[in-house]
Amino acid sequence: MENFVVSARKYRPSDFNSVVGQQHITTTLKNAIKNNHLAQAFLFCGPRGVGKTTCARILAKTINCQHRTSDFEACNQCDSCLAFNNNASFNVHELDAASNNSVDDIRNLVEQVRYAPQQGLYKVYIIDEVHMLSNAAFNAFLKTLEEPPKYAIFILATTEKHKVIPTILSRCQIFDFNRILINDIALHLKYIAEQEKIDAEDEALRLIATKADGALRDALSMFDLIVTYSSGNRLTYLETISNLHILDYDYYFKVVDSLLAGSISNVLLIFDEILKKGFDGNNFIVGLSEHLRDLMVCKDPATVDLIQVSESARDRYLMQSQQASVSFLLSALNICNQCDIQYKASKNQRLHVELALMKMSKLPQALTLAALAQEDSKKKG
Ligand SMILES: Nc1ncnc2c1ncn2[C@@H]1O[C@H](COP(=O)(O)OP(=O)(O)OP(=O)(O)O)[C@@H](O)[C@H]1O
Ligand SMILES: [Mg+2]
Ligand SMILES: [Zn+2]
Repeated sequence: MENFVVSARKYRPSDFNSVVGQQHITTTLKNAIKNNHLAQAFLFCGPRGVGKTTCARILAKTINCQHRTSDFEACNQCDSCLAFNNNASFNVHELDAASNNSVDDIRNLVEQVRYAPQQGLYKVYIIDEVHMLSNAAFNAFLKTLEEPPKYAIFILATTEKHKVIPTILSRCQIFDFNRILINDIALHLKYIAEQEKIDAEDEALRLIATKADGALRDALSMFDLIVTYSSGNRLTYLETISNLHILDYDYYFKVVDSLLAGSISNVLLIFDEILKKGFDGNNFIVGLSEHLRDLMVCKDPATVDLIQVSESARDRYLMQSQQASVSFLLSALNICNQCDIQYKASKNQRLHVELALMKMSKLPQALTLAALAQEDSKKKG
């Protein structure tokens, strides 16, 4: 049996151009290489799984590459690049500060920095989770960071910039990594699915992308998990929701249809079904609010792009939003919001949600009455 390599490793970008969603950083780094204007200390900040370590390694590889391309990318063919790609290069040192945070660890590193590289131009030191270094370790590091030998480059990475002491911050060029957009993640997953010959439904990929909350690594792990769980070369929306334990958005459409029809009984039955499937009332209300919000932004062509759903789902949203009035959506959102806020404090949480649903089903009627009364008073006035 072939060894299974997780997608996050298999598809780690090998040059700047293939890094997703961090153009502001990759372009700046490439320009610095082009103009020979490279800083010696960098701080890469940002949420987990968005490409900090990846970019640090690409930078290390690119500046040591013997035949950089005309686009200032690593060639991925020379001895140095090959050594990097096989994790065998002597010119890159990675220190995980989460587990090596003592003064001694840093002293070791500082000691190594004194030796010039045997091959290649630069020695690159990547210190991950740098905010975990002890104070004493930080202090032992400061002097080297301030006056490193010219062949040494430091790339510090952290998910918690606010915990990095100012003396370090002021000595580094700081790069803030973005959370990656749902769209970009979904496209990247689509690319990987194609490479792996997996027949994936767009909606499934989009759902994974949404759930990943900006972290590409998380998206890739979820993707792997669901593919392994399913038959292996198909990835469907239904399998994805059951795997990630997400409520099918179909339910929200049904709930809103029933609310618009003023049918309390229907809505209560649907909610019962949802609870029976093991979903939590609070999550349901939050999900319903998001659904109402999506319907709301569909009301205006100017905001329609704010919904982050696949093309096929989009038409469904547009249709339902046509049926609901802005006043209905606003009032329903309000009721959901109140329900969510008071949920934790409520003694009977099921009833609490049911009450909110009942109130919402009465909205269409109440709004019609209010409109009639207004017209009436206009006529009289
Ligand atoms: N911007 C990106 N473009 C393409 N792939 C990415 C990107 N970000 C993350 N990945 C994928 O996720 C994996 C992990 O990314 P990486 O190690 O660079 O994250 P990180 O930002 O260093 O996260 P952490 O803070 O957890 O260390 C990579 O191997 C790659 O497959
Ligand atoms: Mg990392
Ligand atoms: Zn090369």
